[in-house]
Amino acid sequence: MNILETKGLYHDFSGLQVLFGVNLEVREGERHAIIGPNGAGKTTLFNVITGTYEPSRGDVYFKGQKITGFKPHQLARIGMGRSFQITSTFQKLTTFQNIRMGILSKRGIRFNLFQRVDKMSGITRETDAVLDRINLTGERDFPASLLSYGKHRSLEVSLAMSTDPDLVLLDEPTAGMSKDETHNAVQLIRRLTEGKTMIIVEHDMDVVFSLADRITVLHHGEILAVGPPNEIKDNQEVKDAYLGDLVVEV
Ligand SMILES: Nc1ncnc2c1ncn2[C@@H]1O[C@H](COP(=O)(O)OP(=O)(O)O)[C@@H](O)[C@H]1O
Ligand SMILES: [Mg+2]
Repeated sequence: MNILETKGLYHDFSGLQVLFGVNLEVREGERHAIIGPNGAGKTTLFNVITGTYEPSRGDVYFKGQKITGFKPHQLARIGMGRSFQITSTFQKLTTFQNIRMGILSKRGIRFNLFQRVDKMSGITRETDAVLDRINLTGERDFPASLLSYGKHRSLEVSLAMSTDPDLVLLDEPTAGMSKDETHNAVQLIRRLTEGKTMIIVEHDMDVVFSLADRITVLHHGEILAVGPPNEIKDNQEVKDAYLGDLVVEV
């Protein structure tokens, strides 16, 4: 079953056409990568799916329900989470407070000082459990702005996962990371998305080919190919358009 489908999705920025009839299909439970050259429209596609932009034509379906035009917070409620290509944590809040925001927002609870203590202590426990899972207990009370780059990106992925979404979209979660940080981030992503559906935009082909069950190749706003990593790797059109002579170990 497809958990997410886009049907004939078009988007333009004041006349600059960016998406040309994209029919994306993501199966429930898979790790699905979207690859393609810079400017192909990957982030725009994410923004249309997650309600940041409205498509100029076409529709988005999530769990069989038409969600075109839904706002990001409505999508969070029905089980869609996302991270951003640019940093999206709350810089002045601590690691703990960032994750707690995610947990509270899923439940539709606004944090206030007069919250019932028993309810809040449950949320504190849940937040600490998440911190433990993502190895950030040691940085629990650091402001997000003081985290190392790699830990900061991990926090972002975790923030996207803290609402316990059925589908999570990650936009270049390893961008700018060192090799070690990338390795750790991939382990973390693998762990956090176990049993969930994930769509990841990723430029690091080692990450893509090791993580993805299926890959969609986007080129100039159109889908060029869809398939499992070994098929995509051998696809001549994809090689010509994007992978070039890149040799990838699978
Ligand atoms: N907010 C915007 N306003 C105008 N043009 C944009 C905007 N965002 C992206 N674009 C353009 O849309 C195209 C696709 O961009 P994007 O979706 O960011 O590509 P990708 O994520 O694949 O690198 C590019 O030509 C980019 O310059
Ligand atoms: Mg992008």
